[in-house]
Amino acid sequence: MPNSTNQYLKPLTTKINSNGNLEIGGCDLGDLANKYGTPLYVIDELTLRSICRDYKKAFESYEKVNMMYASKALCSLATSAIISSEGFGFDVVSGGEIYTVYKAGADMKKVMFNGNNKSADELLLALDLGVGRYSADNFFELSLLNELAKSKNKTADILLRITPGIECHTHEYIQTGHLDSKFGFDLTQIDEAVELILSEYTNLRLHGLHAHIGSQIFETKVFEDEIDILIKELARLDEKFGLKLNEINIGGGLGVKYIESDCPPSTYEIADVIISSLKNSVQKYGIEPPAIFLEPGRSIISTAGVTLYTIGSSKQVPKGRKYIAVDGGMADNARPAMYRAEYTAQIANKPDAANLQNVTIGGRFCESGDILINSIDLPEVDEGDILCVFNTGAYNYSMASNYNRVEKSAMVLVNNSQSDIIVNRESLDDLISHDVIPNRLKLNA
Ligand code: LLP
Repeated sequence: MPNSTNQYLKPLTTKINSNGNLEIGGCDLGDLANKYGTPLYVIDELTLRSICRDYKKAFESYEKVNMMYASKALCSLATSAIISSEGFGFDVVSGGEIYTVYKAGADMKKVMFNGNNKSADELLLALDLGVGRYSADNFFELSLLNELAKSKNKTADILLRITPGIECHTHEYIQTGHLDSKFGFDLTQIDEAVELILSEYTNLRLHGLHAHIGSQIFETKVFEDEIDILIKELARLDEKFGLKLNEINIGGGLGVKYIESDCPPSTYEIADVIISSLKNSVQKYGIEPPAIFLEPGRSIISTAGVTLYTIGSSKQVPKGRKYIAVDGGMADNARPAMYRAEYTAQIANKPDAANLQNVTIGGRFCESGDILINSIDLPEVDEGDILCVFNTGAYNYSMASNYNRVEKSAMVLVNNSQSDIIVNRESLDDLISHDVIPNRLKLNA
């Protein structure tokens, strides 16, 4: 089976150029750092389009596939426009994500609104902008969405989010009858939800079921189990209520390669498992094959992104480790501090130099836990060198903060030797732009 883009550690266009520097999308990373400053998120358009095409190709033999991108991994106008131009819809989880994909020109019919506590304002925005599907998460939401849809004389098209009793995070795989989760309806609550929709909630139209079993998944068997549970439920609801539900959303979760030892499956491998389990399960339970929705986030955007940092101070702890500090850290990439996530990096202006030392890359934020990479072999480094951290496209920018009142980083898109800014660096004035100082507190007023 062919490889797919999520199995690569670096963007597909990464190479060492004639100046001996790293380049991505035909752009020298040192030049990008000079032009736009650091920390800098860089997105390689070709890599992003390539994974979208891997997914489409992998699933082309199944007629009824709706590919959506989980915006929570990284949401911006430009990336949304690229992903939309590849024919993808979007999984969105907030008014902010809805607004962004709408402004990027997404086909709103291909947008599904997920989340366990959508506010009335967010649901109203979704109704106004014509969001195509809602993943209804709980009893409160069923009633709220029905009321809001009624007030607008509309019908909301929904799937029911269920907890199938499977949870998988990379190497852990839990399968139980019930999952203690804040998301979705327990399997034992589905019938009550369906009865309410059929009897009372006349402004809701139920199309199917939705589940999501985890993130950074490396095994394929879990999708087989998930699909079996979803299809079994569709068949059961058909038998009990005469309901012909014809959609399942199987969530996201495919893993990526952050470090050399990570071996995620390809889109082709998971498509193979998903399509064959669908065929087996529909045969087993005797129903028509439903349309499937997929909503991967990480595997779409992670590999396309790198972050550039400028190296500043360094410190050798006597009889201890050597720390090298960069000008970013946990505010632009919270994952190492939050999840002990591991990354790899290279010095962009000396990618060929021999590794002579093992160091710890520390961030600039005032917290001991702000360590970007705990242990990495690097060449001798000098202040001003550019560190390129790979696979930072997902859950970096989207989880960024202004901790220590530091401006959020800029993002550029690279392609064919061209670079375009797609998110401006915040300014000091941006930082205070939402602050309000009451008149009575103004000094020298
Ligand atoms: N669908 C649902 C309902 C989800 O909850 C998620 C992710 C996805 C799709 C996309 O999953 P993906 O393909 O990206 O694995 N901040 C964490 C990841 C949180 C994922 C939350 N849900 C991290 O940085 O690892």
